[in-house]
Amino acid sequence: MRLEQTRFGVRFSNPVLLAAGTCGFGEELASVADLTALGGLVTKSVTCEPRLGNPAPRVAELPGAMMNSIGLANPGLEVVRRDKIPWIRDNLASINVFVSVAGHTTEEYAAVVEGLDGEDGFLGFELNLSCPNDSGLGGLPFALDPPALQRTVAAVRQKTERPLLVKLAPNVPDIGAAARLAVQEGADGVTLVNTMPGLVIDPETRLPSLGAGKGGLSGPALRAVGVAAVHAARGHVDAPILGVGGITSAEDALQYILAGACLVQVGTASFADPRAANRIVERLSEWGSRRGIADISTLIGAYGLVPQEDERT
Ligand code: DHB
Repeated sequence: MRLEQTRFGVRFSNPVLLAAGTCGFGEELASVADLTALGGLVTKSVTCEPRLGNPAPRVAELPGAMMNSIGLANPGLEVVRRDKIPWIRDNLASINVFVSVAGHTTEEYAAVVEGLDGEDGFLGFELNLSCPNDSGLGGLPFALDPPALQRTVAAVRQKTERPLLVKLAPNVPDIGAAARLAVQEGADGVTLVNTMPGLVIDPETRLPSLGAGKGGLSGPALRAVGVAAVHAARGHVDAPILGVGGITSAEDALQYILAGACLVQVGTASFADPRAANRIVERLSEWGSRRGIADISTLIGAYGLVPQEDERT
């Protein structure tokens, strides 16, 4: 089965990317996995200033899931521009890299995008709108606050002509409406979904398992939520949808693709197995070929449709 697609005007050799926050800027993983065999990756979120992140423990394991509260630890815009982007340019030129962007204000998102837009070596940006908003409405993440979402996407759109993805949160009343707003304001694609807010309490200490208290839930338990979000958004936007949440196998990736995603991202699975995404690429191709499916694009949004003869080789 052919895995190649053209999206955002460029070629993706396959639909599997590494998700933001799970692969740094690629350097460490590159020593244990062949990142050039992937469709691409999304970097750790970049903020204007360096951030040290939250107190330990930052990660907790649950049955079928992981909780994290890292606090957007990252080296900040200047170091990313000086050290990380050149490394990506020199080592990952053959794959599509999106730089994830975070901030506490609309202005911070716009400043990070403006500060990196002139650099060569990466394809586009993914806005991580899931961090709390300092600038109004009681600290809601932008993804949960439609006016802030609109304002931020519109402001960033003015700073770049590169492909612009907007990553949305699963805990909104209408993910389709949120996706539509993002696209109306100029997003070229939407990434669904970010982690689900959660809390784990240790009964002995009566304290949270994570140093920061609450955190974001990811891993297999999130998958059905993500697949439903992609399916819901599919009816509201024509723009490419990137599916993410709990993908550990080719079959998991196919659920997202059938629901309407054209690309997928692998996150939590890479912690247990840094080659998980590479394995998924290999298995996807085998899965389709075994069934005589010529091209993965025939599967995008094919949820509920009986397999057609013309999909077959
Ligand atoms: C963090 C940020 C996120 O967007 C997320 O989904 C989970 C964790 C963080 O850095 O803490």
